Amino acid sequence: MAEDLTIAKGSKEQQYQSLIPQVKGLLTGETDLVANMANVAAALKEQFQWFWVGFYVVKNGELVLAPFQGPVACTRIQEGRGVCGTAWLRAETLIVADVAKFPGHIACNSLSKSEIVVPVKRNGQVVAVLDVDSEAYHFFDDTDKKYLEEIVAFINF
Ligand code: SME
Repeated sequence: MAEDLTIAKGSKEQQYQSLIPQVKGLLTGETDLVANMANVAAALKEQFQWFWVGFYVVKNGELVLAPFQGPVACTRIQEGRGVCGTAWLRAETLIVADVAKFPGHIACNSLSKSEIVVPVKRNGQVVAVLDVDSEAYHFFDDTDKKYLEEIVAFINF
């Protein structure tokens, strides 16, 4: 497909519904993981203008920073540490309304106020996480969970 994105207006649901087929189009026929993570992060950033969106991949027993959009970030996160490491350990999506209240939250950037972390699973194992940060409190909800889980399932890890 052409490498340009049509940006939808409307409800969050409508925005995801416009974005998802476009993301599928971007990933179809491309097998390179870094290229695909890069385009997913870019497409999400372009549509939603989130403060930070990107991936950490599991490498040698820790999460290592992978393609993202936003300010520079922490490069390595241990299992069970912060929101990302906890989502990895529990193998479940975490929605954090106020990161200051999350025990062990890793403040890569003090402007980040709320966060959602979606684990990417392959064969029952977490192989990466998708992390999204907002400058607003209470920013993410079950709609984000539903569609972000759908999006990461397209990526061929
Ligand atoms: N806040 C995250 C760390 C990653 S950055 O926000 C990009 C955490 O607590 O895991």
